[in-house]
Amino acid sequence: RNRLTMKKEKTLGMIKPDAVSKMGSILDLIYLSGMKITKLKMCHLNRNEAFEFYQEHQGKPFLDNLLSYITSGPVVAFELMGEGTVGRWRELLGPTDSAVARKENPTSIRARFGKDKTMNACHGSDGVASAARELEFFFPSVGPSRKNTAKFDDCT
Ligand code: TYD
Ligand code: MG
Repeated sequence: RNRLTMKKEKTLGMIKPDAVSKMGSILDLIYLSGMKITKLKMCHLNRNEAFEFYQEHQGKPFLDNLLSYITSGPVVAFELMGEGTVGRWRELLGPTDSAVARKENPTSIRARFGKDKTMNACHGSDGVASAARELEFFFPSVGPSRKNTAKFDDCT
């Protein structure tokens, strides 16, 4: 496989409030992995925004806790691009529960920087379709934010 046949993907990553202080270390790991950060911003979600972002978890018992946590401070959202990026970012994250991650994948981001199954350091889209929705949430493709991003938009 070469540059012409590689299938590039995009995914949405997010550093959650308790790991924002570890942003430097987390971005180092992403750089070393070879995945490219093509957009990035810090923002503080309100409850409505968090509910929209986590809409797939409506009705689940942990949703209320999750919304309180994710709105407790700023997050850092970023777009990653590269071959197989959706799966590679999930692999770098490790299992959802940081305690499980420390047993099963001790070098993963959730093992190293997370605390438990809610405060687990980072988010990653779980597929190409959720990646598209979540990227549109943080980096809308209409409006002023589209300016200056077109030259990176070579991945469909
Ligand atoms: P989920 O999509 O199942 O995990 P992942 O982030 O690995 O895709 O859950 C979304 C988030 O909800 C998860 O990152 C942390 C939180 N969560 C809890 O707080 N308690 C739980 O029991 C689960 C499954 C998730
Ligand atoms: Mg998920």
